Amino acid sequence: MPPPPPTPPLQQTIYVGPFVFSESSTELDICPHGAIGVATTGTISFIDRDVPAELNNADGARWKAEKGTEWEDARMLVAEEGEFFFPGFVGACWPPSHSATYNTKAASMWDPRRTDTHIHASQYPNAGIFGKSTLMDWLDTYTFPLEASFADLATARRVYARVVARTLAHGTTTAAYHATIHVAATNLLADICVERGQRALVGRVCMDTLSPEYYRDESVEAAVRDSRACIAHVRQLDPRGELVTPVITPRFAPSCTTPCLRALGELHQETGAWCQTHISENAGEIAMVRELFPDSADYASVYDEAGLLTPKTILAHAVHLSEAERKLVKRRKAKVSHCPASNTALTSGCARVRELWDAGITVGLGTDVSGGYSASVLEAARQAIMVSRHVAMTEGDGAKLSTEEVLYLATRGGAEVVGLEDKIGAFEVGMQWDAQLVGLGEVAKGEEGKIGEDGPVDVFGWEQWEERVA
Ligand code: GUN
Ligand code: ZN
Repeated sequence: MPPPPPTPPLQQTIYVGPFVFSESSTELDICPHGAIGVATTGTISFIDRDVPAELNNADGARWKAEKGTEWEDARMLVAEEGEFFFPGFVGACWPPSHSATYNTKAASMWDPRRTDTHIHASQYPNAGIFGKSTLMDWLDTYTFPLEASFADLATARRVYARVVARTLAHGTTTAAYHATIHVAATNLLADICVERGQRALVGRVCMDTLSPEYYRDESVEAAVRDSRACIAHVRQLDPRGELVTPVITPRFAPSCTTPCLRALGELHQETGAWCQTHISENAGEIAMVRELFPDSADYASVYDEAGLLTPKTILAHAVHLSEAERKLVKRRKAKVSHCPASNTALTSGCARVRELWDAGITVGLGTDVSGGYSASVLEAARQAIMVSRHVAMTEGDGAKLSTEEVLYLATRGGAEVVGLEDKIGAFEVGMQWDAQLVGLGEVAKGEEGKIGEDGPVDVFGWEQWEERVA
């Protein structure tokens, strides 16, 4: 195969204004007067932390000259009053454009983008619809009928175009998507991600047992053949894997036979494609796994014995992992996607992020739409705080997660989950400019009674930076 054509250059740009990103899981780096120079490759070339105030009035010619002749013709983008840059929620900037999303009030900044490490794109129309169900009856009642409808490509196009637009609007620059069993619809999702400039892992769902007759793989061979077709499409679409990459997606152990899991494990090893699945979400599911796989010690071992537990594996939920399972996940360097909103909505339980971290496991955040009601990673971050407080009510304050910690999960943690920690999730020289512009709604004096179009967050002007970010 000939090498892929070079990626078109971007316009060299200097982003001027406050910026915020996670220095570590306990510390935010907050720079009130910064500038970040981004090269034509989309890579951050320099970071200035003490930029003269007049630059905020877009009068930067003299200062720019000091940066050297190569920055003379650079475009300057200056954040307005009340705005700041923040990394995308596990996201990335791919050379066709400096991708950036603008969030009003929800999180008002251009920040390093955020990553959604677990979202079912096909379930988006069901967001918020779960009645009184728990996992297994929720799948039968709401989820399988909707996913099956993606045999119709027009339905898939409507939903996927909106999911990608909506997640980008929420600041998600990188998403790990579960699609459906349909090859054409899954490939279409990858096409739309590329068109819109969203970084994504795109997975065709495999399920050859315990699923409705109308929605299942007809055989192990069919599951492997169709997975191969999607892997080939995504790799042909983006040969360098800069924006989209394929991910092998056994739905979860109960919906795959042992031969199917083993065949997908072999495919994982052979192709080097990522793997994503669910683990230990709900008590009924775990009991089912025990019954279906009596020779395996536990749920994590089922995946391990199939060759599916590796450093390129993303495990959603991990609510009820035993200590032995945590040790195994850590040994295999598999990653966990914490999906707090979904775990509450489906009454699955409270995952213990602190326990996972203490075991040395990498954790990111997932919305798990439509188990989760919102496609916003920021909402997942809020829910991670709330769930950690519920854990703390019975297990002590050590379980509580701080704002700094959940923003870390949403950016650097998510980046590590999808193997992009050197590229995205923070603002550092050599990383990609992968950011969103956050604009908080200032309450103007004399206009306190008016609600404008700048979102649901109100800032009065006396807040410290730490308070604004919280
Ligand atoms: N387990 C198997 N399939 C699913 C799904 O679609 N959503 C969630 N939350 N858990 C699952
Ligand atoms: Zn899920």
